[in-house]
Amino acid sequence: MTHAAQQLCLPTVYLNGEYMPLENARISPLDRGFIFGDGVYEVIPYYDGRGLRANEHLIRLQRSMEELYMTNPYSLEKWESAINGLIAKNGGGNLAIYIQVTRGVAKRDFPPPAGLTPTVFMMANPLPTPKPEIYVNGISAVSLDDNRWLKCHIKSTALLGAVLLKHESNLLGGDEGIMFRDGYLTESSASNIAAVKNGVILCPPMDNLILGGITYVLMIELAKKAGLPLEVRRVSRKEVRGADELWIMSSTKEVVPIVSLDGRPVGHGIEAGKPGPIFKTMYQLFQNYKRELASAPPQAAE
Ligand SMILES: Cc1ncc(COP(=O)(O)O)c(C=O)c1O
Repeated sequence: MTHAAQQLCLPTVYLNGEYMPLENARISPLDRGFIFGDGVYEVIPYYDGRGLRANEHLIRLQRSMEELYMTNPYSLEKWESAINGLIAKNGGGNLAIYIQVTRGVAKRDFPPPAGLTPTVFMMANPLPTPKPEIYVNGISAVSLDDNRWLKCHIKSTALLGAVLLKHESNLLGGDEGIMFRDGYLTESSASNIAAVKNGVILCPPMDNLILGGITYVLMIELAKKAGLPLEVRRVSRKEVRGADELWIMSSTKEVVPIVSLDGRPVGHGIEAGKPGPIFKTMYQLFQNYKRELASAPPQAAE
């Protein structure tokens, strides 16, 4: 095991049905994932072997493949056992399981040939949950035009749009970029977003313009269960500029408050530029949900 390989991911990866050290994993350069970004992926958080909404992630993986006219090579049960094996072989703990399925290897040509064998790759990384200060101090964001394609509901490995938007956010001095299409809020480069105005949580609809996040759906469920006023609807740039709170959500970030947007503090009065009360409630609801998960039977037994 080289030092460089150790830093890239945890030592054991999964490739096409086999567990192996990362440095033994070999993929053809003619894999359509490499040539065209012709593939889909998932990132599933596991806490001590317990997947947080793992089934929902695997169902979204299936839906993404259907959008690409691909056949899922594995059943739900096979995915679960392959993931559990990967967790066990990497020593358990809190892990982000990355799954990638590409259309497979073929002569380079645009139309996808029938009958290819998909390439299945999985790796594990320690779950990169933000440091506690982030939840207290928040992050900064900049507004960007959403110039990605119109099929953002597919979790495709073709991520150049998101890569450039994230890079441009950082060049503009923001921790994150939040995106607008035709004057309406969509999402961040790798997370969903909600705004709060006058105590109402405003959530962009889960259409083709955003990835329907598993965390987003969970947060909406938790907020509704807790009786928090919430509207799923288009949110204008003006509403975002005047919002009392903004927060982003994803499987690895959980829920993180944005405290400044385009160099101006988010919110009003003495609370401006600080994580807001509804963010704090949502954070707590999420932590409670995780605590309940911790008392459920583990899924990774090997
Ligand atoms: C574009 C985009 N939106 C939203 C999300 C959040 O999705 P999830 O909560 O399923 O991690 C992600 C996660 O990677 C993403 O890439």
